[in-house]
Amino acid sequence: MSTSDALIVNKTAVPKEFNKIARRYDMATGLSQGYQADLHRSAAYLNLKGHEQVLDLCCGTGKSTLAVLPFITTGKVTGVDNSEEMLQVAREKFATEISSGMLTLELQDAMQLTFAEGSFDAIFMAYGLRNMPDYDRCLAQLYTKLKPGGRLVIHDYSLADGWFAKPYWWVLGNVFIVPISYLTTGEANIFNYLIKSVQNFLTPKVLEAKMAATGFKQVSSHAQPTWRAPILRTFVGVK
Ligand SMILES: C[S@@+](CC[C@H](N)C(=O)[O-])C[C@H]1O[C@@H](n2cnc3c(N)ncnc32)[C@H](O)[C@@H]1O
Repeated sequence: MSTSDALIVNKTAVPKEFNKIARRYDMATGLSQGYQADLHRSAAYLNLKGHEQVLDLCCGTGKSTLAVLPFITTGKVTGVDNSEEMLQVAREKFATEISSGMLTLELQDAMQLTFAEGSFDAIFMAYGLRNMPDYDRCLAQLYTKLKPGGRLVIHDYSLADGWFAKPYWWVLGNVFIVPISYLTTGEANIFNYLIKSVQNFLTPKVLEAKMAATGFKQVSSHAQPTWRAPILRTFVGVK
């Protein structure tokens, strides 16, 4: 079995693979045109007023955190990731926000969060759910961690129905993402895993249905108005 197939079977090993590319992650994603702008567009769906407690789940090196922080004034962002090396890059980047108390970063498994029920007004999960070994269990847990009226925003690759998205992703992944990321990071496993995990992930309709089945109301999904429209979505649900 290839390493990327092994990661699909055992997703708990994914954060260790991210440890290997942590110092090059920002450079690799920076080559992907519009990566940060897409995150900012999704974070806007959190509808934050500024005072909220926000969980940025699977925050990595903090690119998603950077998209949430501008919406916060008196509130606080908690970033969680299970890759120590990715978190270390985020810690260096956000030293000011951490020392002011606006941001804390914690090493935790997203499937076994230690926060009390109803801890957060909003949860942002960017490129995270796809890496979870059990999507239903993860969504159920996120539901409990939100306050009533709290909002979940999931930003992830989700291939649209129809004939176009699958071959589009195959070409993007195998012709551009894997070779360019290998040149940038010296690693291929995590990027081969990325391609396969997206191919295996939920379509927009199926994820929306799962969110509704979990109890989320006003569930909606939004294609990014960019070249990623067929492959990248923002999912929104309210507790
Ligand atoms: C593609 S990165 C996304 C990082 C960031 N949200 C962004 O938008 O750039 C995925 C992150 O999920 C983290 N991750 C994967 N499985 C996890 C788990 N079970 N618990 C916590 N973090 C996890 C990885 O360590 C990695 O940092």
